[in-house]
Amino acid sequence: MKAIIYENYGGPEVLQLAEIEMPVPKDDEVLVKVYAVSLNDWDWGLLHGDFINRMMYGFRKPKKTILGSDIAGRIEAVGKNVKQFKSGDEVYGDLSGRWGGFAEYLCAPEKALALKPAGMSFQEAAAIPQAGMLAVQGLIDEGKISPGQKLLINGAGGGVGTFAVQIAKLYGVDVTGVDRTSKLDMLREIGFDHVIDYTREDFTKNGRAYDLILDAKTNRSIFDYTRALSPKGVYVTVGGSAARLLQAFFLKRWISMIFKKQVRIVMLKPNKDLAYMNRLFEAGKVMPVIDGHYKLDQVPEAFRIFARGEHKGKLVISVCEI
Ligand SMILES: NC(=O)c1ccc[n+]([C@@H]2O[C@H](COP(=O)([O-])OP(=O)(O)OC[C@H]3O[C@@H](n4cnc5c(N)ncnc54)[C@H](OP(=O)(O)O)[C@@H]3O)[C@@H](O)[C@H]2O)c1
Repeated sequence: MKAIIYENYGGPEVLQLAEIEMPVPKDDEVLVKVYAVSLNDWDWGLLHGDFINRMMYGFRKPKKTILGSDIAGRIEAVGKNVKQFKSGDEVYGDLSGRWGGFAEYLCAPEKALALKPAGMSFQEAAAIPQAGMLAVQGLIDEGKISPGQKLLINGAGGGVGTFAVQIAKLYGVDVTGVDRTSKLDMLREIGFDHVIDYTREDFTKNGRAYDLILDAKTNRSIFDYTRALSPKGVYVTVGGSAARLLQAFFLKRWISMIFKKQVRIVMLKPNKDLAYMNRLFEAGKVMPVIDGHYKLDQVPEAFRIFARGEHKGKLVISVCEI
C-alpha cells in the first residue's frame, strides 16, 4: 500500500511517498481503508519535532513514521474481539497517539472510532474529530458558554475557530473572530458578527471586553487576555505557544483570586463529543469548512500551505478512490 512516511524531523521536504506493507489488525483492532484524512497543528509539531513532541515521540528521530490522526474510511476486516463494528462499516475518528492516517490502510482500536453518518462525506468526517472536539470542549465543557454572552475567538479562521463559531451561534452569543486579512470574508460568511484583522488591530488593546475568549493561538501574555475580559469573564485556551501556555497554567489560580476572572486550559479528550457533532451535522447546524482538494501525494504541499497559515478551516486529503 501507499503511505507518506518520514524518518527524520524537518520541513515538508522530509515527507516521502512510499510503498509499504499492509498492516494486520490485532484481536481488538479493525483494519480501515482510509478515504480521507485531515491535517492538524499536532501533525505539524510532530513533523518539525518541537521539544514537547520529541520528548513524547522520539528525541532524535520520530518513532511514528506516518502522521495523520483524523481519518475517515471503511472497515475492511475486524479482529476476533471486536464487538462494535463489522466489515463494511463507515467510520471516523481521531487516532492521535497512534497516527498513521497518511496511508491507504491503517489499524485502529475500535474504541477510537465512531460510525460516520450516511449523509456525511468522508472528507467532512475527516475534518471534524480534533478541531471539532477542541471547539466543543473549549466552549461548552471549559467555557460554560451561555446565551447573551460576548465571545471572542482568537485564531478564528482555522479548524477550531470555524467549528466554534457555528456551535457558539446555537447559544445565541455575539461572536468576534480574530485572524489575518485574507480570511475575514470567510469568517463573516460562516457567521462571525464582527471580525478583527490581527495585522492591523490588537484586540487586547482596543478597550472592548468579552465574557468568553476561546484561543487557538495563545500568542500573548495572560495579562493581555485578562485585560480583554469583562468582570468575571473566562479565558479558555486550546493551544498555542508553549511559553504562553505555561504562563497561563502557573498564573491561573492567582488571576482568579486577584482579578476574579477565570483561565482554563483544554486537555483534549479525543472523540468524546463525536455523537454530539453527528447530531449537529445531521440537523444541518454545523458544517466543516474544508479548504482545497488534495491527494495523498500532495501531503507535502498541504503541509506547506498549513505552515504558511494560508488554509481556511481544515485541509483535507483524499486518500483512496471511493
Ligand atoms: N489542548 C489540547 O489537548 C490540544 C490537542 C491538539 C491540538 N491542540 C492545539 O489546538 C490548536 C488547534 O487550532 P486549529 O486547528 O484551529 O489551528 P489552525 O487551523 O492552525 O488555525 C489557527 C488560526 O490562527 C491564525 N493565526 C495565526 N497567527 C495569529 C495571530 N497572531 N492572531 C490571531 N490568529 C492567528 C491562523 O492564521 P494565519 O496563520 O494565516 O495568520 C489560523 O487561521 C493548536 O494550537 C494546537 O496546538 C491542543
